[in-house]
Amino acid sequence: MSAEHRSNGSATAVAHPNIALIKYWGKSDEQLVLPRTDSLSMTLDIFPTTTRVRLVPEAEHDEVTLGGAPLEGEARRRVVAFLDLVRERAGSSQRAVVATENTVPTGAGLASSASGFAALAVAASAAYGLDSDPTALSRLARRGSGSASRSVFGDFAIWHAGRPGEADADLSSYAEPVTTGEFAPALVIAVVNAGPKAVSSRAAMRRTVDTSPLYEPWAASSKDDLAEMREALLKGDLDAVGEIAERNALGMHATMLAARPAVRYLSAPTLTVLDSVLQLRRDGVPAYATMDAGPNVKVLCHRKDAERVAAVVRGAVPGGSVHVAGPGPGARLLNGAA
Ligand code: DP6
Repeated sequence: MSAEHRSNGSATAVAHPNIALIKYWGKSDEQLVLPRTDSLSMTLDIFPTTTRVRLVPEAEHDEVTLGGAPLEGEARRRVVAFLDLVRERAGSSQRAVVATENTVPTGAGLASSASGFAALAVAASAAYGLDSDPTALSRLARRGSGSASRSVFGDFAIWHAGRPGEADADLSSYAEPVTTGEFAPALVIAVVNAGPKAVSSRAAMRRTVDTSPLYEPWAASSKDDLAEMREALLKGDLDAVGEIAERNALGMHATMLAARPAVRYLSAPTLTVLDSVLQLRRDGVPAYATMDAGPNVKVLCHRKDAERVAAVVRGAVPGGSVHVAGPGPGARLLNGAA
């Protein structure tokens, strides 16, 4: 009996986005989605993605929907390629119906691909009867989108760059939980523009690695940032965590600004929010910013300060929306909901 016959051919999973405090920017292997550097993130407790995978023995094509609408183009191609990988491993040729519901704006630098491919990895593995240990799921999710490897885990997770070029390269790169003591900060998320980004993070990181003279220095300093970040997390030192996260993110954006042609995700409202974060610090409120492949800003602060930080940030971007997140759970199957 093949693995897929042991499963009931249908599974639903939920996963949350994660925000990197030490960024992943640049691949050493495009096909295997191996990163150039280790990265470290916090999984959120808001904006879950729910994905249902149902095998359809008689179907000739996969059916892929997002929010009820068929996915097309590159987005669909990535999901089908991911399913092909799962099918290859499961020894199956069965097509599937994949239905995803996002609660986060898609493609706006708010990590929808992280929660999306983490949920898909968990649901597809269950539906096709593949290995479901978290390390295997993290490796698999990585193949869909690098940052998804981290959303398999809750709270704080580190994703290892692994050993590119070695025989065990694929096995060597996965995320795992990071020990932090009692550290539970808030991330205040300022959505200054929820529209899709002009350049995908995939294309932008490729251009940065290929053309930016600042890339190698950032990658080297990111190693030091990571070591310091682990110390700071263990101590539960929010100021240190925030300072390291902010400089790591600004450094990543500097590599992009120096790419040829430049990639610039930071917009005028982004800078306005960054100014308000500086002002909060001047006023004695520990608050630190990080930005991903989009104009939105995530502000790290103590939970007790979250409402004050949110109010200040809201005032800085009157047209935007502001959300308060804390550390959230890892990806999981929804039992009985398949
Ligand atoms: C800026 O994981 O979306 O958010 O692996 O090409 O799918 P692909 O890229 P993706 O890149 C995320 C980049 C980032 C930083 C981070 O999350 O570490």
